[in-house]
Amino acid sequence: MNMVLRTAVAMSLLTLFLGAQNSSNKASKASKTYTPEYNEKGELLGNADYRQWVFLSSGMDMSYSPNAMPGHSTFDNVFVNPEAYQKFLKTGTWPDKTVLVLEVREAGSKASINKSGHFQTGEVEGLEVHVKDEARFPGKWAFFGFGEGDTGKLIPQTASCYSCHQEHAAVDTTFVQFYPTLLKLAQEKGTLSSNYQKEEKSK
Ligand code: HEC
Repeated sequence: MNMVLRTAVAMSLLTLFLGAQNSSNKASKASKTYTPEYNEKGELLGNADYRQWVFLSSGMDMSYSPNAMPGHSTFDNVFVNPEAYQKFLKTGTWPDKTVLVLEVREAGSKASINKSGHFQTGEVEGLEVHVKDEARFPGKWAFFGFGEGDTGKLIPQTASCYSCHQEHAAVDTTFVQFYPTLLKLAQEKGTLSSNYQKEEKSK
């Protein structure tokens, strides 16, 4: 994607999410706990409140992204719905209806007083969501990709998202090894996946 197009997509993503904010704020006040919702096409409804969820971690230029471009840095931020986080603190794993959001943001380096290093900018370049809905998905979990609309498209089970997360993620197909406050908990509760434990041993 060229830069102009990228910016256009980022802008429209932002507008849609900000636009959705008013109505979803009302909805979230009415119902205390968040639960994933879908439209008739099976798409996941966007939730503009995810920025008020629990922040798990930021990755910078992590290389699994197929969109990684040389000379262009991005951050990714991971958020989870608070109900699921609370359960994780008790059990070391994710309950049904867990929703994890990965937000990709463009990194900037020259602005205001900054002379070195990178900061996050207002440009959201991508939004991907990992949903645990046991009754709905055969593998319990599914991925959704948000593009220009305010609903996320289901990513087919054959996509590499599923195999990489299945084979390498530390807890229940999620990358808890990169979420510093949760890894220790999972170790203590004994919820680390056997794939992850094997990988760690063979290092
Ligand atoms: C080669 C391995 C790999 C592939 C392929 C991959 N991911 Fe991930 N994914 C990761 C890693 C590593 C993280 C941790 C990111 C961090 O620490 O910031 C992650 C984190 C995530 C998260 C945050 C929640 C979680 O499960 O930990 C989402 C959402 C996500 N990826 C979606 C996707 C989607 C959608 C695809 C396919 C389009 C995909 N991923 C493909 C490695 C991968």
